[in-house]
Amino acid sequence: MEFFVDTASITEIRTAQSWGILDGVTTNPTHVAREGRDHKELIQEICAICPGPVSVETTVADAEGMIGEGETFATWAPNVVVKVPVTPEGIRALRALRAKDIRCNVTLVFSLPQALIAAKAGAAYVSPFVGRLDDNGADGIQLVRDICAAYRHYGFETRVLAASLRHPVHVVHAALAGAHVATMPFKVMEQLFNHPLTAIGLEKFLADARALQAALETRRAPV
Ligand code: G3P
Repeated sequence: MEFFVDTASITEIRTAQSWGILDGVTTNPTHVAREGRDHKELIQEICAICPGPVSVETTVADAEGMIGEGETFATWAPNVVVKVPVTPEGIRALRALRAKDIRCNVTLVFSLPQALIAAKAGAAYVSPFVGRLDDNGADGIQLVRDICAAYRHYGFETRVLAASLRHPVHVVHAALAGAHVATMPFKVMEQLFNHPLTAIGLEKFLADARALQAALETRRAPV
């Protein structure tokens, strides 16, 4: 399973990249607005830090506008993937961008029919929003499972990118459901390392190593 970080924070992306487990980045207009920087400059810096796919979301609702933005984003860096919403306009834009070999991530996906549309149109990625479905009393992970099963059934090549993941259990369930990619907030990626037994075990091992070192030094000390 690939791990993407869902942020536009340079500090977070740099840290995740330094761990050696970062496969890509997803941004959205909310993340970008939070950084308060020029969009192009920010994305180019992100693309230079993380060589994997970096999703950049369009900021208009009409196909022509999305095509224009997508073409521009694709000139910013070779690893840019254009994010378009699963609307008729978004899918029209995807077809046009795909004809120019620009990869797209279809976002704001909340149902299996929407995911089938994305795959049929040739999306590189489809992004079901797990947390937002859960927030509304639906089962987000079940949607990821259903999309994976349907795609397998028809041999679609679109990669299932589980998005809107809010905690490590979402990541675990997305992996078990067969998602190709989990995109998660930096905090969640950090939490994946955590287990109380790791902390307790490490503390004991380090203490034992320090105690042995001290004993050896005492033995070596001249009397
Ligand atoms: O980028 C899309 C997505 O991952 C949003 O997550 O937590 O705002 O629903 P969230």
